[in-house]
Amino acid sequence: MPINCLLICLCITYMQIENEYQLVEGGFHEKGPPYVIWAASMAVGLRTGVPWMMCKQDDAPDPVYHGGTNLGRSTSSYVTTSYYDEAPLDEYGLKRHPKWDHLRDLHAAVKQSSQPLLWGKHTKISLGLFQQAYIFQANSGSCAAFLVNNDTTSKVTVQFRNVAYDLPQKSISILPDCKNVVFNSATKRLLDQLTITKDTTDYLWYTVSYDYTSSDDQQLLLQVNSQAHVIHAFVNDAFIGTEHGSHDSPGVVLEKPISLLNGKNNISLLSVMVGSPDAAYLEHRIFGLQRVRIQGKMDVQDLNNQLWGYQVGLQGEQLEIYTEKGAQSVEWRTFDKFAQKPMVWYKTTFDAPPGRDAVALNLQSMGKGEIWINGESIGRYWVSFLTLQNQSSQTLRPKVQLYCHQGKRISVIDFASYGSPTGDCPNYSVGSCHSNSSKTVVEEVCLGKRRCSISVSVSRFGGDPCPGTSKSLLVAASCS
Ligand SMILES: *[C@@H]1O[C@H](CO)[C@@H](O)[C@H](O)[C@H]1NC(C)=O
Ligand SMILES: *[C@@H]1O[C@H](CO)[C@@H](O)[C@H](O)[C@H]1NC(C)=O
Ligand SMILES: *[C@@H]1O[C@H](CO)[C@@H](O)[C@H](O)[C@H]1NC(C)=O
Ligand SMILES: *[C@@H]1O[C@H](CO)[C@@H](O)[C@H](O)[C@H]1NC(C)=O
Ligand SMILES: *[C@@H]1O[C@H](CO)[C@@H](O)[C@H](O)[C@H]1NC(C)=O
Repeated sequence: MPINCLLICLCITYMQIENEYQLVEGGFHEKGPPYVIWAASMAVGLRTGVPWMMCKQDDAPDPVYHGGTNLGRSTSSYVTTSYYDEAPLDEYGLKRHPKWDHLRDLHAAVKQSSQPLLWGKHTKISLGLFQQAYIFQANSGSCAAFLVNNDTTSKVTVQFRNVAYDLPQKSISILPDCKNVVFNSATKRLLDQLTITKDTTDYLWYTVSYDYTSSDDQQLLLQVNSQAHVIHAFVNDAFIGTEHGSHDSPGVVLEKPISLLNGKNNISLLSVMVGSPDAAYLEHRIFGLQRVRIQGKMDVQDLNNQLWGYQVGLQGEQLEIYTEKGAQSVEWRTFDKFAQKPMVWYKTTFDAPPGRDAVALNLQSMGKGEIWINGESIGRYWVSFLTLQNQSSQTLRPKVQLYCHQGKRISVIDFASYGSPTGDCPNYSVGSCHSNSSKTVVEEVCLGKRRCSISVSVSRFGGDPCPGTSKSLLVAASCS
């Protein structure tokens, strides 16, 4: 008989010793510290497989972390439920884990280095007064290196195997292949885009205030690395530039010259995602900005360690200005004033074309964005995105298609005009723009056939009858 096995996975990220003992520890004199040690080893001895926190005990014995938060009605007098210390979950259940992220990345870097670490030969070389490289080289050829800067006050650039590496003060960089830095103990990570936006929008603003003191008239370069998919950069409200990746190389690197004011500068980076990849383990993927640096003539400032602000979505999305009601909450202006702006909301009204045929919107003059009609999103567009053949990724090739009922054929072309024809069926007339080859072209393609199709393009009608004006093709035909 088959046995059905149900496996229930309870995902506990950490456990907490909720004793807040440090507040009363002094009252127990020399008996206090041994109790803390006992509580920690008792907890660790339970071998739960997840990290332990000790609440309000900033000398929590290793490997127990100091941290924690309180939920429910378990707090002391005048203390509401609140997040404090560096607990990996806040009281809203949202992840907030600088320590956890740091350890995850550290463990991943060590694991990547495990082959040479466990089986390699260990050597140490000096890279400077306070800098060393610890190298692990295995017979298989695999190599891992740990570059240490033991200087507590200054960052340095060291040369290791003919490559320059920046080492922040008091930090260790891990190179699992002796070439690429995958982890630095002093570098913080920017928050992941999907974790913050919960995929409710494509847009996430990353903002930072950067204190700059100019030494001389330096040539500065803003360098941004991102794992998705478009970056728009602004410095002190001025647009600096845009960069994007592609389906096959999703990462983005933006490098633009910038000038900064002496003192505080606002740097705002808008990271735009265009969907998530078709891939397994999406929850392990990281999106959004990875690294932000300012490169001067002399040095590189890493902005990851600054205090960053995050803003989910665009203001227009929050106001739902694509709905009739939301559109009233902002001031709309005439079009050309904004022609030079990198990002603009456009709004227009139009009459639905007569008839019941499918209608297509030609967005050829647009760049990248999302479009709403009567408040309904009809999707994203990115017509300015070029394929490998340098063709627009979305191209509308309009056609006129005619057909007769079973047993009949197109016998007469009653009217045909490529240009600006007007009127309602059957009373069409030629407008101010008209190609006089219209009728001949349609007759050549369609007469005597049950169905025919004519592409609507300048070349099909032997030249442009009115350059700079938008044109259409109107045909009336009879079947018999
Ligand atoms: C770094 O400096 C500290 C304090 O001087 C010393 O104890 C430690 O051994 C040094 N570490 C390395 C890797 O040199
Ligand atoms: C930076 O932003 C703050 C807050 O919006 C503003 O008060 C300040 O004037 C801005 N600084 C610059 C240089 O634009
Ligand atoms: C596409 O355009 C870019 C930039 O203009 C050019 O470098 C590249 O060679 C072009 N590719 C093809 C296939 O024409
Ligand atoms: C077409 O024009 C004729 C003559 O002016 C008029 O009698 C007829 O109602 C028009 N048909 C339509 C559908 O507008
Ligand atoms: C179209 O009409 C113009 C003006 O009557 C004439 O000069 C031209 O040759 C015509 N072209 C064709 C293709 O018939």
